[in-house]
Amino acid sequence: MENNILKGKKGIIFGALDSSSIAWKTAENVFREGGEFVLTNAPVSVRMGSINELAEKTNSELVPADATNLEDLENLIKVAKDKFGKLDFILHSIGMSVNVRKGRHYTDLNYDWLTKGWDVSAVSFHKLMQSLFKLDAMNEWGSIVALTYIAAQRTFPNYNDMADNKAYLESIARSFGYIFGKEKNVRVNTISQSPTLTTAGKGVKGLDDFLNYAELTSPLGNATADDCANLTVSLFSDYTKRVTLQNIFNDGGFSNVGVSQEIIDKLNSK
Ligand SMILES: NC(=O)c1ccc[n+]([C@@H]2O[C@H](COP(=O)([O-])OP(=O)(O)OC[C@H]3O[C@@H](n4cnc5c(N)ncnc54)[C@H](O)[C@@H]3O)[C@@H](O)[C@H]2O)c1
Repeated sequence: MENNILKGKKGIIFGALDSSSIAWKTAENVFREGGEFVLTNAPVSVRMGSINELAEKTNSELVPADATNLEDLENLIKVAKDKFGKLDFILHSIGMSVNVRKGRHYTDLNYDWLTKGWDVSAVSFHKLMQSLFKLDAMNEWGSIVALTYIAAQRTFPNYNDMADNKAYLESIARSFGYIFGKEKNVRVNTISQSPTLTTAGKGVKGLDDFLNYAELTSPLGNATADDCANLTVSLFSDYTKRVTLQNIFNDGGFSNVGVSQEIIDKLNSK
């Protein structure tokens, strides 16, 4: 698939850590479709990951920025604006819970860690949009996308405080998206992605079981990182000009299935 549907479009892609990252795949597919972008990640992730390789492959400038730090965001947006002029697309592909990382149970949360994870995973999306808005950095009919998970609506074991972070993130998308739409004709959406084997994904205890369960439940099977990247490409393109304030499930149909025959058969075979 190569249709050049992002030819002439410029943006910023957050969150490519290594080749398993959803943002990595997205950068590759946006590049394939003719889009140009600045890549960014937290300074520590730039040092530890392999994002330099991606920057080289996609002819992109790499600008480290902690997405919770307003000065870093402002600097990043200014660099991108100096290079490209106003921007057409932004991908927020950022998530982290210290409580999940350190194995703290939901009934025994450390609230300093909760606050840190909330800032990184959810408030950073507000900080990013507020910075873009104040710097008037988005072109009319531009598109902003953040990634989320269905634990925002339904409960899943071990997703812990990330479920609450995702609910907050989705709410920010609607609240800011309304204003961005009214005042600047900019779209804001979230993609609710199937469980996917990435560094962040692997941090969730029992991800393999989640993955297998979702695979057996979804009529089309789990959406891959490549599927997510292609949906993002379409949301960045002019083909989705009036899609906004949506939480779009990219999950093979999982979100609308009660139970599948495959799961019933598995239970009966025990
Ligand atoms: N993997 C899954 O199963 C899955 C499912 C649904 C949604 N998502 C979401 O997709 C997004 C991308 O995650 P992924 O699965 O590709 O994993 P990933 O670990 O590759 O990406 C997470 C990124 O967040 C970045 N990050 C963390 N703290 C940051 C900070 N302070 N400033 C800037 N960047 C920071 C990391 O460096 C990393 O690049 C996340 O929002 C995640 O919650 C993942």
